[in-house]
Amino acid sequence: MRQLIAGNWKMHGRLADAAGFAAAVKNAPAWADLLICPPATLIDRFAAALAGSPVSLGGQDCHALPQGAHTGDISAAMLAEAGASHVILGHSERRVDHGENNAIVRAKAEAAIAAGLIPIICVGETEAEREAGEAEHVVRSQLLHSLPPGFAGVVAYEPVWAIGSGRTPTEDDVAAMHTAIRAALVAQLGAAGGNVRILYGGSVKPGNAGALLALPEVGGALVGGASLSATDFLAIASAAPRG
Ligand code: PGA
Repeated sequence: MRQLIAGNWKMHGRLADAAGFAAAVKNAPAWADLLICPPATLIDRFAAALAGSPVSLGGQDCHALPQGAHTGDISAAMLAEAGASHVILGHSERRVDHGENNAIVRAKAEAAIAAGLIPIICVGETEAEREAGEAEHVVRSQLLHSLPPGFAGVVAYEPVWAIGSGRTPTEDDVAAMHTAIRAALVAQLGAAGGNVRILYGGSVKPGNAGALLALPEVGGALVGGASLSATDFLAIASAAPRG
């Protein structure tokens, strides 16, 4: 399966950044699928700038309901209409900043699927949980409670302590966790669990991407800081194994 290299811009990026980035990635040769998740305000502009390009767009969150009195929120259908095909859900920054628990993430995933979006559901342990030997247990529980039945989206394993820190787990730890996630997905979803792409996220850079993307059951990367530079994003994408 082709790998998916997804950029999560978080709360970064202005109009001028979008134009330059889109121009740089639009026709870049890639043997991985490329996805940019900019702030929602830029999706529409990105969609216009990327017209005819295989690069996809995603949101960073959506509401669990299709519409209503929810000031400041955005529905999955709104994202789709703006040009998104994917949406990141349950990122640890949402779980911490907005108190999102697994039930909320699952409800959002159901809303995303109903609107035709592919959810990218983030899971990952804190440093304290890893030190306590609880990492796999925590991640399995997040999967069990965040993924709706029949889930056919993407999972991103993002250890909370690796996000934005410049630190990554050892290659053995990433491989072990991705193998455990695959087993959990198959137990939960049956054979379909074998087809879910499992991304690694947390301080992925051009310098470590090749080693991380080559590990068993790693189906791509969710890239934060390094995705703000088109050069670095494309360097990461070109480190993906040719599948
Ligand atoms: P990072 O962020 O690459 O800056 O560590 C990853 C993420 O939060 O998705």
